[in-house]
Amino acid sequence: MVVSLLDRMPLNNGLTIPGIGLGTYGMDDNQVEETVFTALMNGYRLIDTASMYKNEVGVGRGINRAINAGISREDIFVVTKIWKTDAGLAKATQAFEDSFQKLNLEYVDMALIHWPDASDEINRETWQALEEIYASGRVKAIGVANFTRGDLLPLLKAAKIKPVVNQIEIYPGHRLEELTDFCASKNIVTMAYSPLKKGKLSSENKITKIAEKHNKTVAQIALRWSIEKDLIPIPKTTHKERLIENAAIFDFELSDEEMDILDNLG
Ligand SMILES: NC(=O)c1ccc[n+]([C@@H]2O[C@H](COP(=O)([O-])OP(=O)(O)OC[C@H]3O[C@@H](n4cnc5c(N)ncnc54)[C@H](OP(=O)(O)O)[C@@H]3O)[C@@H](O)[C@H]2O)c1
Repeated sequence: MVVSLLDRMPLNNGLTIPGIGLGTYGMDDNQVEETVFTALMNGYRLIDTASMYKNEVGVGRGINRAINAGISREDIFVVTKIWKTDAGLAKATQAFEDSFQKLNLEYVDMALIHWPDASDEINRETWQALEEIYASGRVKAIGVANFTRGDLLPLLKAAKIKPVVNQIEIYPGHRLEELTDFCASKNIVTMAYSPLKKGKLSSENKITKIAEKHNKTVAQIALRWSIEKDLIPIPKTTHKERLIENAAIFDFELSDEEMDILDNLG
């Protein structure tokens, strides 16, 4: 379990990744530039984007501003993704090239297949594109998102390089334990997207009670739950006060009983 915003978890290729990050879905270039810069200046080191979010230019600008302000590039971990309409060897190769140009960084830390194709053969081809880009050094780690066990098994069989992460939707009450256990058994780290259930958790009475008990917010309880499960949550917010709030989760612990309640919420 990570113990601070700067703490990192090991990946199966020898690299490390920060244990909590910023999601950027739904932000345009201008908004994301400001938010990424503010997040980095307030201690965040992991930024999640995707070609589908159409904001990689702004993400790159925000990161470059933070580098100019003194944050070391090596400490920042930026993730982008290949969208499903770009599946296959040639299209995925071109899609990464487009993302790489838009981000305008020396290298990308991690590229993911954003969504599995129904065909294992197409997934294998998209993966081969990522393996080739990885060999070129322009991306430091490769992984997948939204892959089930049934998608992962054939990919693992065909892959020369194992995915380092699977990014899936997880929040209290939606924990996908079988899949995360399977990934852990293959040394694949799980990143938790929509870790705040897209902002809809506060209607749950049980989590509100736990939050009151710890003098924390519902968002902080949800994110602490993720961290204690060794997941990497990537909450999205455009508000500075929420960026700070979402990172203030390292000064308390949830009991086994509370973890159990959160596992089974709703
Ligand atoms: N791989 C995939 O297929 C996939 C799919 C979905 C998402 N993702 C990634 O995961 C990231 C996070 O997921 P998400 O954006 O769907 O949902 P989320 O992070 O669960 O929730 C974001 C919502 O919660 C609100 N929020 C943030 N902090 C809050 C706080 N402290 N108190 C109250 N409300 C708060 C935000 O509003 P404000 O912005 O107004 O603060 C926003 O409406 C995405 O941005 C994206 O990077 C990946």
